[in-house]
Amino acid sequence: MPFPIRVTGSTVVLREFSMQDVDDVLGIIGDDKVTTWLSFDSRDRDQAVAMIEGTLERARQEPRTEFYLGVTKRDDDHVIGFARIGLSGVQAGKLGYAIAAKEWGRGYATDAARTLVTYAFKELGLHRITAAIGPDNTASIAIAQQLGFTREGTLRDHVFTNGQWRDSVLFSALAHEWSW
Ligand SMILES: CC(C)(COP(=O)(O)OP(=O)(O)OC[C@H]1O[C@@H](n2cnc3c(N)ncnc32)[C@H](O)[C@@H]1OP(=O)(O)O)[C@@H](O)C(=O)NCCC(=O)NCCS
Repeated sequence: MPFPIRVTGSTVVLREFSMQDVDDVLGIIGDDKVTTWLSFDSRDRDQAVAMIEGTLERARQEPRTEFYLGVTKRDDDHVIGFARIGLSGVQAGKLGYAIAAKEWGRGYATDAARTLVTYAFKELGLHRITAAIGPDNTASIAIAQQLGFTREGTLRDHVFTNGQWRDSVLFSALAHEWSW
């Protein structure tokens, strides 16, 4: 199974994390502006270290079932976000992504998601990829729609985050519908 992965998009690069990324990662998963939309609460430095260690450990498992990659700009190796596909079911994967708040609105998440989904269909042979998005997360819903994902329905009380249950809107893309 592939390790290490490095995939280049139009404006971003997706690459494996390293322990040098702790401060950049903390700037993302330690920021309430970002995590309020995610399925976990904000994390501290120790948890950021543990997150990277866990990611690297799972990345080396055979077979590899998690593709949790740092997002960088093409000309700068600092991590400005992450994109993740976790395999689940038959040739199926779950997509997630986040970008540091100071870099929002520049198209990085759209490019990161498009690049990872294309990789997953083409190189990992996936058939179906889903994204479960909070109903109020307009930016993320815009990304799913722009990439051509189909809205399937609502998952009720799907995640417990920030002290309460939250629904998700489920979007999916199928390999034969994907334009690359
Ligand atoms: C969602 C998120 C990843 C978007 O990152 P980004 O790099 O700013 O996204 P993009 O620049 O690619 O923009 C995506 C679309 O959302 C729109 N958008 C961006 N910020 C927005 C906002 N605050 N409100 C409404 N729409 C917004 C953009 O206009 C763009 O749509 P368009 O191309 O049709 O104009 C980022 O806001 C984030 O990290 N949020 C917190 C974590 C999260 O929600 N992750 C997804 C969980 S499902």
